[in-house]
Amino acid sequence: MGKAHSLAYAALPMYFWPPPAMPIRSVIADVNAELAAEAAVRYGYERSTGDWRRVVDDPNIDVIDIATPNDLHAEIAVAAAHRG
Ligand SMILES: NC(=O)c1ccc[n+]([C@@H]2O[C@H](COP(=O)([O-])OP(=O)(O)OC[C@H]3O[C@@H](n4cnc5c(N)ncnc54)[C@H](O)[C@@H]3O)[C@@H](O)[C@H]2O)c1
Repeated sequence: MGKAHSLAYAALPMYFWPPPAMPIRSVIADVNAELAAEAAVRYGYERSTGDWRRVVDDPNIDVIDIATPNDLHAEIAVAAAHRG
């Protein structure tokens, strides 16, 4: 679903014009640095990390998109909510 969501962000101005916002695909996380780096190249993200906490802790990130397996959603969502 990370692939599907990334594609949607990239295509947003093709569907909505003028676009309400232009998403910047800033950083993508996966289970380790190598997989995340590959995903960043493949899906067009500026940076990557093997630790999702770095994304949640980054004050420059406005939106967190959670596309992990279901049993990880709550921990990430609660951490992101605590960070605003
Ligand atoms: N596949 C579908 O058609 C589909 C449709 C609707 C909703 N969903 C939902 O999307 C979510 C993901 O499903 P999927 O099918 O894409 O699963 P997937 O297993 O293909 O992808 C999950 C990704 O999360 C990564 N991941 C796992 N643990 C992680 C961690 N601790 N930190 C960072 N990344 C981690 C995996 O490496 C993988 O890249 C689920 O909640 C699922 O219910 C999937």
